[in-house]
Amino acid sequence: MKKIIAANWKMNKTISETKSFFHNFRNQSSLLAEGCEIIIFPPFTSIVEAVRECENTDIKIGAQNCYYESSGAFTGEISAEMIRDIGAEYVILGHSERRKYFCETDEIINKKIHKALKNSLKVIFCVGESFETRKNGKVNEWIERQIKNGLKGLSKENFKNIVIAYEPIWAIGTGKAINAESADEVVKFIKKYLADNFDSESVILYGGSVKSDNVREFMGLEDIGGLLVGGASLSAESFAEIIFASG
Ligand code: 13P
Repeated sequence: MKKIIAANWKMNKTISETKSFFHNFRNQSSLLAEGCEIIIFPPFTSIVEAVRECENTDIKIGAQNCYYESSGAFTGEISAEMIRDIGAEYVILGHSERRKYFCETDEIINKKIHKALKNSLKVIFCVGESFETRKNGKVNEWIERQIKNGLKGLSKENFKNIVIAYEPIWAIGTGKAINAESADEVVKFIKKYLADNFDSESVILYGGSVKSDNVREFMGLEDIGGLLVGGASLSAESFAEIIFASG
């Protein structure tokens, strides 16, 4: 199975910056490690441009959020149908920044996941604990709650279109990635939980301060199916370095 290297650009890049990223990225990567699947998540306003830039390549494009209704009086929201309509194939749901700044609960995330899957979007579902939770030895309990509620009602068939990203909140944007051994423990816990409770499996990514110099630690772990990269995916050069390092 191909490992996934995904880029979450968060609220970064205008259309012209998106164009220039792909221009540089193509130069970096005549190579593109055939061994991995690359997925890029631009902001909504750059998705159409990114899809166009990636025509006739294997790079996939996704959105960073979607709403759980199809249409109607929901000012400012974007539906899963609309995201499919512009050619994106993936959506990130449950990111800790959406949970924190936009008050997304497990229940809201669960509704969004169902809606995205109904509209043939593949979902990268994010989970992860705060530093406080880790300090108190409650990581597994925390992750279990997020998965149990977030993925409630999904069928075995649905799991083919779910990727889980383990992103410890305290490792996001801090330059302090978790050590590989601790990440491995959580990933193994998630695998077992999915097998025991959903009779299913899913690819599991690691995210949080991934850079080219720590890629190998994570990619070397058998149960880690790839990486979700934030800051280091914004420059074509550093994102390409991560892809090379993971190959
Ligand atoms: P950083 O790689 O900037 O820590 O962000 C990780 C992340 O939140 C990806 O979704």
